[in-house]
Amino acid sequence: MEQYLPDPARYDAMPYRRCALSGLQLPAVSLGLWHNFGHVDRFDVGRGVIRRAFELGITHFDLANNYGPPPGSAERVFGEILRLDLGAHRDELIVSTKAGFLMGPGPYGDGGSRKYLVASLDQSLRRLGLDYVDIFYHHRPDPDTPLEETMAALDHIVRSGRALYVGLSNYPAPLLREAAALLRNLGTPCLIHQPRYNMFDRELEHGLLDALADEGIGCIAFSPLAQGLLTDKYLGGTIPPDSRAARAHFLKAADITPARLAAIEGLHALAVARGQTLAQMALAWVLRHAGMTSVLIGASRISQVDDAVGALRGPELAADELAAIDRLVAVAR
Ligand SMILES: NC(=O)c1ccc[n+]([C@@H]2O[C@H](COP(=O)([O-])OP(=O)(O)OC[C@H]3O[C@@H](n4cnc5c(N)ncnc54)[C@H](OP(=O)(O)O)[C@@H]3O)[C@@H](O)[C@H]2O)c1
Repeated sequence: MEQYLPDPARYDAMPYRRCALSGLQLPAVSLGLWHNFGHVDRFDVGRGVIRRAFELGITHFDLANNYGPPPGSAERVFGEILRLDLGAHRDELIVSTKAGFLMGPGPYGDGGSRKYLVASLDQSLRRLGLDYVDIFYHHRPDPDTPLEETMAALDHIVRSGRALYVGLSNYPAPLLREAAALLRNLGTPCLIHQPRYNMFDRELEHGLLDALADEGIGCIAFSPLAQGLLTDKYLGGTIPPDSRAARAHFLKAADITPARLAAIEGLHALAVARGQTLAQMALAWVLRHAGMTSVLIGASRISQVDDAVGALRGPELAADELAAIDRLVAVAR
């Protein structure tokens, strides 16, 4: 079998940002495997995307128990890529996974109980072929499980060696503060929070960024391109047959409204004037926050990884450009 030998210069261009008060640094751009890495997708394409990402200094790969489809298959695919290519570089990788959404039948396949979280992570480790993950997340709050139980389960997961760090995802600011205090008291501080954040979805700006700064927690924003809307893909309103809007049910053709298309046209013109693609400007916009540790992209092909990493070489966003972006998206949100 051909031995995978990554480029020795792979760390030269990627900036690494410290995850708040921790010792861990993450690449400014990280890659998620929510879409494009299931058993329904082409393995050779996904493998090429992961290899290219690693060559460009992307050391962080984000998974969840339910990524696929079918659920679990993205972890199996990534496990196979580890076996074929990246396994020898395990100590250079930050692999994360999560539990919290529906994964299995019965009362122990969803939620935030200690029973579900520990069993789910054991299943993830088997699919990945790993002894431990670097970050384990509770994927979303569970109102039916005491917060104390979920946080104690995360603490147990770290103490048992299944994960090095823990994170939370989709927690609103007040609950995040409560959870952070519980974890701190247990001696397993919350490393990072994973919220959705992009030009169209600004929820993060309403208390969550402040809570993260106060609690000393890092931030990794998911869907920074609004699942592809904030690229040149849908300019003019055409939906390419191989795009997420045509293939998957999380982004629907109905989401591409005339108001959003008008905003996308204006944003595209602004990006071109800056010498960037719209995707690059959208990523630079997320990364402008001092508290933003990393931006978590998805990619269906190698060129999208190249485009994303190119965002790190662009000019900073000036105050008048930020104001223009706010005006353009205000009518479409
Ligand atoms: N914690 C959570 O609840 C949660 C939820 C969602 C996501 N996530 C994480 O965040 C990761 C990223 O989410 P996401 O995939 O929604 O992110 P995204 O970066 O907003 O969207 C990625 C999609 O946009 C399109 N795209 C990317 N670059 C492009 C370019 N340069 N030109 C044209 N189209 C481009 C591709 O779709 P096409 O197929 O159309 O090419 C790609 O798959 C996930 O993989 C997952 O790890 C977490």
